[in-house]
Amino acid sequence: MKLKDKVAIVTGATSGMGRATAVLFAREGAKVVVVGRNEKRAKEVVDQINNEGNEAIYVIADMLNLDDVKNIFTQTIEKFGTVDILFNNAGMLSITPLQELSIEEWENTFKVNVTAPLLLAQLVAPIMKEKGKGVIINTSSVAGAHAHHGMAAYVSSKHALCGLTKSMAWELGPEIRVNAILPGAIVTAMLESVGGEDAVIHLKEGSPLKRVGASEEIATAALFLASDDSSFVTGQLIRVDGGIDI
Ligand SMILES: NC(=O)c1ccc[n+]([C@@H]2O[C@H](COP(=O)([O-])OP(=O)(O)OC[C@H]3O[C@@H](n4cnc5c(N)ncnc54)[C@H](OP(=O)(O)O)[C@@H]3O)[C@@H](O)[C@H]2O)c1
Repeated sequence: MKLKDKVAIVTGATSGMGRATAVLFAREGAKVVVVGRNEKRAKEVVDQINNEGNEAIYVIADMLNLDDVKNIFTQTIEKFGTVDILFNNAGMLSITPLQELSIEEWENTFKVNVTAPLLLAQLVAPIMKEKGKGVIINTSSVAGAHAHHGMAAYVSSKHALCGLTKSMAWELGPEIRVNAILPGAIVTAMLESVGGEDAVIHLKEGSPLKRVGASEEIATAALFLASDDSSFVTGQLIRVDGGIDI
């Protein structure tokens, strides 16, 4: 097992790629803190992990509320006493043309996609530094590398998260490795909310693999980055996108 006895916080774990990652991390021996807003789905994920004989708790948190974000850390330490892996995966999509974008939507997108990952990293870093080891993984997007039309807040926030990943890698090393995953189109509730596979047909056709991805294909990338298999990898923006834009 690659994560035996590690404690992992996974945000956005009630759905999609976060859920797949929480389940995989638990199968690899981690005690997982499942974070999301939807309590019913949070319980389902914890039940699934427990039914497989593995350990997990859930913490309900809205990333728009910084007290909720702090509570994720508090609950983790209360229950497990430490933290080894932070997967900042919760994300807010914003599909609003530039001229119609309100400052509130802009700020909320940044709160969920950038500020919450920063605050969680600030909270876990002292513990990881003291242990001499820790891993932080941030879910950015291919929209963190290229602009997509009509998504200025999302594109800007995911670009910012890439910059934050590199800054974290510099300032939190050598004890803590920090990397980002940049998913392409992955079949999840978020993709469905923009029209599913049909809406991203150009991404499919523009990729050598000619398909969209599955959440499990992000989970395996996250496992690589969370485990010692990636012990010499930090500050990297790892695209898991079927090869679009190569
Ligand atoms: N799917 C794609 O094609 C794609 C591509 C590139 C990047 N991404 C990124 O991948 C990450 C995971 O998305 P997904 O595709 O797996 O989507 P998803 O299935 O819709 O899951 C999104 C997760 O984020 C959580 N979340 C959203 N807003 C939140 C908030 N304000 N506070 C707390 N939790 C919040 C949701 O929790 P609740 O449901 O419990 O509220 C859910 O667990 C996101 O960062 C997204 O931007 C997705």
